[in-house]
Amino acid sequence: MLTLCTAMGIQLGRDPDKTYELTTDNVKKMLAVYMRFKCEIPVLIMGETGCGKTRLIQFMCALQATEAERISSTAFENIVIMKIHGGTTTRDIIEKVTQAEKIAEKNAKDFPTLFTVLFLMRLTLQRLLEQSKRSCVTKHLVVNRLNCTRI
Ligand SMILES: Nc1ncnc2c1ncn2[C@@H]1O[C@H](COP(=O)(O)OP(=O)(O)O)[C@@H](O)[C@H]1O
Ligand SMILES: [Mg+2]
Repeated sequence: MLTLCTAMGIQLGRDPDKTYELTTDNVKKMLAVYMRFKCEIPVLIMGETGCGKTRLIQFMCALQATEAERISSTAFENIVIMKIHGGTTTRDIIEKVTQAEKIAEKNAKDFPTLFTVLFLMRLTLQRLLEQSKRSCVTKHLVVNRLNCTRI
């Protein structure tokens, strides 16, 4: 926890989730993800179902939110999770991106060092290809780009 907090510029304080087992491996992965966030590089996490991808990101976000809340005494929402499935449409994705952009803009204004995560779950390569064949997600995101660089 000390390593993680030091690297993320967080004062060692409240554990945001006591039920989360913080292993050395998890800390290394969080640091790798954090470096990419700092450089505004989108992160793709791959792994079998149940290996801990979602909890890892949720813990990272909770850790940052806890620090922001400690300093500013305001509650922060810094993660938007979207489950991708066969019925997900381009419009669904655009709506979630727009929602995340709004939250990210607010967070950037209220607490500039806080990052906001849009977590797309079950985004398989096959699904991405299917979606882009239907001429949508990737095309839309490339053409319109994200308005807010804080996501
Ligand atoms: N470090 C951890 N400590 C405690 N429970 C964990 C940890 N990582 C994952 N889990 C638990 O394992 C299960 C699967 O984790 P999850 O993050 O949903 O996996 P994935 O997103 O890779 O499918 C969940 O019940 C989650 O709460
Ligand atoms: Mg998951």
